[in-house]
Amino acid sequence: MNAEQIRQYLEYYRDLGITDLNLAEIPKIPKTAAVEAAAPAVAVPAPPPKPEMDLILPKLAPEGDTLAKISADIGDCKRCQLCQGRNKIVFGSGNEKARLVFVGEAPGADEDEQGFPFVGRAGQLLTQMIEGTAAKDKLPLRREDCYICNVVKCRPPENRTPLPDEMEVCGQFLYRQLMTIQPKAICALGATAAKALLHTKDSVTKMRGNWHRWHGIPMMVTYHPSYLLRAYNAEAKKEAWLDLRKLFHFVLDDSKTEPE
Ligand code: URA
Repeated sequence: MNAEQIRQYLEYYRDLGITDLNLAEIPKIPKTAAVEAAAPAVAVPAPPPKPEMDLILPKLAPEGDTLAKISADIGDCKRCQLCQGRNKIVFGSGNEKARLVFVGEAPGADEDEQGFPFVGRAGQLLTQMIEGTAAKDKLPLRREDCYICNVVKCRPPENRTPLPDEMEVCGQFLYRQLMTIQPKAICALGATAAKALLHTKDSVTKMRGNWHRWHGIPMMVTYHPSYLLRAYNAEAKKEAWLDLRKLFHFVLDDSKTEPE
């Protein structure tokens, strides 16, 4: 982790109201230098030819479905072109009986390498967002209590947004995962997850903070951690914290079966 990334994490905590942090000791790296160092200019290779599509989808949520069966049905998936560039299929991880499922967009480079969702920089921030928000309100919630997955299970080239046909094919598996877990609530991280689950074109800014429903299950939309890492936006971080607070209080309160 470089100094700029450490600064961003510390700034996130400061935005949450944790003020006894000394940011002055960390040197500020000019954005341009940091960006150049992190991402040297490279020629983008031409996209590979599309593979033949095998668009035979599994039945929606078969009876007696389990996460193990869904993973077995995905197999060594070649149903869309994302199979060409992937190393590992990133199915999802966490508590299979979770009360809360987080849905992200797609695996990035670290996830593609390790086979688990949200293990890179955005994942570290997601862990902090979950555990920092819960700790601040003395709520017993840790990352491993939740289930975490993505709309598509393979990394898109250059981390581009998944295409509609890729989301449609992989969305069948996400549907089965959510139907199998039947969490008390779902949290869509960012616009792609919100669009895939709610079939809406509304922005995250418009949807966040309010309750939505996915097949009857209460759903909250909030900013994607990558967005919070990219744009230094104290307001968005505060809003994400408010969204998670609202979500966690509902999820952990056994007396509440419906969000307020
Ligand atoms: N971003 C996502 O949307 N999902 C991941 O698993 C990692 C980064």
